[in-house]
Amino acid sequence: MADRVLVTGGLGYLGSVLCEHLLDAGCHVKVVDNLMYGTGQQGLFHLCARPTFDFVKGDVRDESLMKTLVKDADVIIHLAAIVGASACDRDPSLATTVNLDSVRLLNRLRSPAQLVIYPNTNSGYGATTGANFCTEESPLQPISLYGRTKVEAEQRLLDSGNVVTLRLATVFGMSPRMRLDLLVNHFVYTAFTEGYIVIFEKDFKRNYVHVRDVADCMLYSMANAPRMIGKPYNVGLDAAQPLEGRAGHEGQGICTELLRPLRRDRPGPRQAQLCRLQPTTARGRLRGQALARLRHPGAAQGLSHDGPGSVQERRVILTPKEEKD
Ligand SMILES: NC(=O)c1ccc[n+]([C@@H]2O[C@H](COP(=O)([O-])OP(=O)(O)OC[C@H]3O[C@@H](n4cnc5c(N)ncnc54)[C@H](O)[C@@H]3O)[C@@H](O)[C@H]2O)c1
Repeated sequence: MADRVLVTGGLGYLGSVLCEHLLDAGCHVKVVDNLMYGTGQQGLFHLCARPTFDFVKGDVRDESLMKTLVKDADVIIHLAAIVGASACDRDPSLATTVNLDSVRLLNRLRSPAQLVIYPNTNSGYGATTGANFCTEESPLQPISLYGRTKVEAEQRLLDSGNVVTLRLATVFGMSPRMRLDLLVNHFVYTAFTEGYIVIFEKDFKRNYVHVRDVADCMLYSMANAPRMIGKPYNVGLDAAQPLEGRAGHEGQGICTELLRPLRRDRPGPRQAQLCRLQPTTARGRLRGQALARLRHPGAAQGLSHDGPGSVQERRVILTPKEEKD
C-alpha cells in the first residue's frame, strides 16, 4: 500500500496507534492536529524519524491550510473532533465547528477521487432497550450534541460519495495518547489503583473494540474501498462484553495489556483484586461510600450517555487530573 494518507486529529488516542499501522503498511502519512491537549501530547514522537511521516500543527477549520493538505492526499482519515458529550457540552460552538463544519469544509475541498474514512460513534443509535442489537439499519437517534454532530457529519460524508464510515464501539487498549475516560480503560486503571470498580448499571449492555483492531479496520477499509464505499459499518468485538456478570473472567483477559506497565511498578496482590465488584478492604469500602456520596446524582441511575462506555461523572473522582474529557 503506497497511499498518501492525511490523518486529521492524528495525535489523539486512535490516531497515534493508527499512524503507526499506516506507516508499517507502507503509506506516506501526514498528520494535522492542533495539539488541543497541549504540547505535552507525545503520541507521535516515536514516529518522527520515519521518512514517510510528517506532522503539521494546525486547525482542521483553517481553509487555506486544509486546501494545501487535502490536495496532496489520496486518502483522508478524519479523526479530528471534540470527543465526548461532556467536552461538547462545555463548548457547543467549538464542538459544532470542529465536528461538523470541518466536514463541510472537507467535502468542499476534496475531489471525488479522494477516499474518506470517517469514525462515527455507535452512541448515535441512542439509548435502546430490549434484547435487540443495533444493526446499520437501526435508526440513528443521538441524544447528545456530540452524537448529533457525529451523526450529521457522517450523513454529509455519505451523501458526498467515496466514503467509508465506521460506527465504532467503545474503544479500549493502550495508546501513546492514553484515554482513561473510556470504560474498559477506566475499569482497569481503577481496579488496579483503587482495588475495586463500581458498576452503576449492571444490566446495561455495550460493546467494545480494541484500538489496534480499529486501526486495522481502517486499513482494511482503504484496501477494500471499492466494495465498501457509500455505507456505514458497525465495528465492535462480539467477544468483548465485559458487563453482564462476566467482568470477573473477561475483564482479566482484556486487562492484561493495560496492566503490564503498571505491574512493573506495583507487583503483588493487587492483581488478584482485578474486577471484583465489591471493595475488599476497609479502605476500599470507605472510598466506595465516599464515591457514592460525591458522585453526580444522575450517575446513580446509570452511565452518562457520552458515547458507549462513558463514565464522565466518575472521572471527576477516579481518574488523573490531567484528563481533559
Ligand atoms: N475513542 C472512542 O471510543 C471513539 C469511538 C467512536 C468514535 N470515535 C471518533 O474517533 C475520533 C478520534 O477519537 P479519539 O478517541 O482518538 O479522540 P482524541 O480526543 O484522543 O483525539 C482527537 C484529536 O483531534 C485533535 N483536534 C481537536 N480539534 C482539532 C482541530 N480543530 N484541528 C485539528 N485537530 C484537532 C485533538 O488535538 C486530538 O489529538 C473522533 O472523531 C471520535 O469521535 C472515537
